[in-house]
Amino acid sequence: MFKVGIITASDKGYIGERIDESGKVIEEIVTKKGYTVEKYVVLPDKEDSLLNEMIHMSDDLSVDLILTTGGTGFSERDVTPEATLKAVDRLALGISEAMRYYSLSITKRAMLSRGVSGIRNKTLIINLPGSPKAVRESLEYVIDSVHHGLEILT
Ligand code: MTE
Repeated sequence: MFKVGIITASDKGYIGERIDESGKVIEEIVTKKGYTVEKYVVLPDKEDSLLNEMIHMSDDLSVDLILTTGGTGFSERDVTPEATLKAVDRLALGISEAMRYYSLSITKRAMLSRGVSGIRNKTLIINLPGSPKAVRESLEYVIDSVHHGLEILT
C-alpha cells in the first residue's frame, strides 16, 4: 500500500506553542485509506527546511505521497507553495483546483489558499491549508481520485 509523508508547516507548532491537530487529521484520513505513514514532522515556516524535507521524503524514503498542511495563505511567513514548486518537476494543479472548488461551497475564504500540487519523480506532493477543518474538507474530497493517480504514478 502507499507510503505517506506528512509535513506540518507551523512556526508555533515547531516551538511547541501549538498542538498539531491538522497533521493528526491527515494521519487519520490516510490511515483509514490503508496507507502507511512513513514520517510525520512539524517544521517552521521556512522555505529551505520545507524543501529539504520534501526532497528527503521523496528521494531517500521513497514515499508515494507527501501531504503538507499550513503555510498556504497570504502572510509573509506562508512559503509552503514556494518550497513545493521548487521540489516538483511536474505540476498536478487539478488536485488543488478541485480542493478550492469544493471548499468555496463551504467558505469563500477558500480562495485565499495558495496551495499547489505536483510530482517529483514518483512522489505526489499536495499542499493542504492549515486548519484541521480545512484539512478534512479538502483531503476527504480528493483522496479517492488521488488514490487513482498514485496507482498510475507507481
Ligand atoms: N478551505 C477549506 N476547505 N475550509 C476552510 O475553512 N480556510 C481558508 C483557506 N482554505 C479554509 C480553506 C482560509 S481562511 C485561509 S487563510 C487559507 O485556506 C490559507 O490557510 P493557511 O495559511 O493556514 O494554509
